[in-house]
Amino acid sequence: MESTSRTEVVSENEQNYDRISELKAFDETKAGVKGLVDARITKVPRIFFSPPDRFDKVSSPVKAQVCIPVIDLNGIDNDPILIKSSVDKVRGASETWGFFQVINHGIPVRVLEEMLDGVRRFYEDDTEDKRKWYTRDGLKTVVYNSNFDLYKGVSTNWRDTTYCTMAPNPPSLDELPKSCRDILVEYSREVMKLGRFLLELLSEALNLKPSHLNDMDCAEGLALLYHYYPACPEPELTLGVTEHTDYDFFTVLLQDHIGGLQVLYQNQWIDISPVPGALVVNIGDLLQLISNDKFKSGVHRVLANNVGPRVSVASFFTTGLMPSSKLYGPIKELLSEDSPPKYRETTPREYSLCHNARGLGRTSALTDFKL
Ligand code: OGA
Ligand code: NI
Repeated sequence: MESTSRTEVVSENEQNYDRISELKAFDETKAGVKGLVDARITKVPRIFFSPPDRFDKVSSPVKAQVCIPVIDLNGIDNDPILIKSSVDKVRGASETWGFFQVINHGIPVRVLEEMLDGVRRFYEDDTEDKRKWYTRDGLKTVVYNSNFDLYKGVSTNWRDTTYCTMAPNPPSLDELPKSCRDILVEYSREVMKLGRFLLELLSEALNLKPSHLNDMDCAEGLALLYHYYPACPEPELTLGVTEHTDYDFFTVLLQDHIGGLQVLYQNQWIDISPVPGALVVNIGDLLQLISNDKFKSGVHRVLANNVGPRVSVASFFTTGLMPSSKLYGPIKELLSEDSPPKYRETTPREYSLCHNARGLGRTSALTDFKL
């Protein structure tokens, strides 16, 4: 049988089928995409069809050769030469890709593995204990659902996600799912430590004093988004995550060995292949805004795959929807007559609301804050 392609499915998306009813029916199962796979479906339901994006057609001879920089942090503490060379690499990566990977980052491999195991345990626990976390109330400490933008996004993704707010107000253990609560707390502590260190490198990469971004409280808030991408029977028809930029200051991503994450670079999709023990770091919209476009919030997506499940944990550094009065605008030290501010000030909450209202697959919310 000939397989359908994402080009052919566009017409189905344009047909006026009752998409909302089908989305509702899916939402009401409270079982996510994993529930469909458990029911052994062999066809991808049409709500998941995604149109090809503007860059799918670009042939990519460079694809095989380029990859995001990998920065080795081994022994970096108190070694000024290593710090300088790492800062230069962080600067180069943040100005061009908006993405880099770090190895020897100080988080033990055991913690990374236990975190990924905890994510699998959460989603593969089919008791009421998982279902009770399913909600669309974004203010809860734990928000488990499928597609946060289900009713708004351009298309529905082949992915389930749980959003846990871990800082600045750490939840107590009984506010977290039993299946992964201990490792969520341990991993958060480790990733917060790494995040604060990365902010020192990022500050220096902007030619600011090392404490600048930490003093601005860019690591005040931390949300862990843990994702589950079930194996997909027709991966060419849908996506794991539609193209987007992250709405935080920066993200530290832990991915398993499966792959599928891609970054847009010079109008081509480039694979971010899993490197054992590594963490992917990417600049978010808020850091692009306060750096006045010096750093770039990289556009990325995740392909669907017939192998799976793939699991990943994205650590979002932002206070998100929490009430906040702290205003963030382009950093004064980075401005001059030749380099006037490009954005108006905003709060992480206002920015998150703006991002959530759009859903994925539309232009970045940054355009709304341009002066
Ligand atoms: C995200 C994201 C990528 C992944 O959570 O914003 O892009 O590999 N995740 O899960
Ligand atoms: Ni992302």
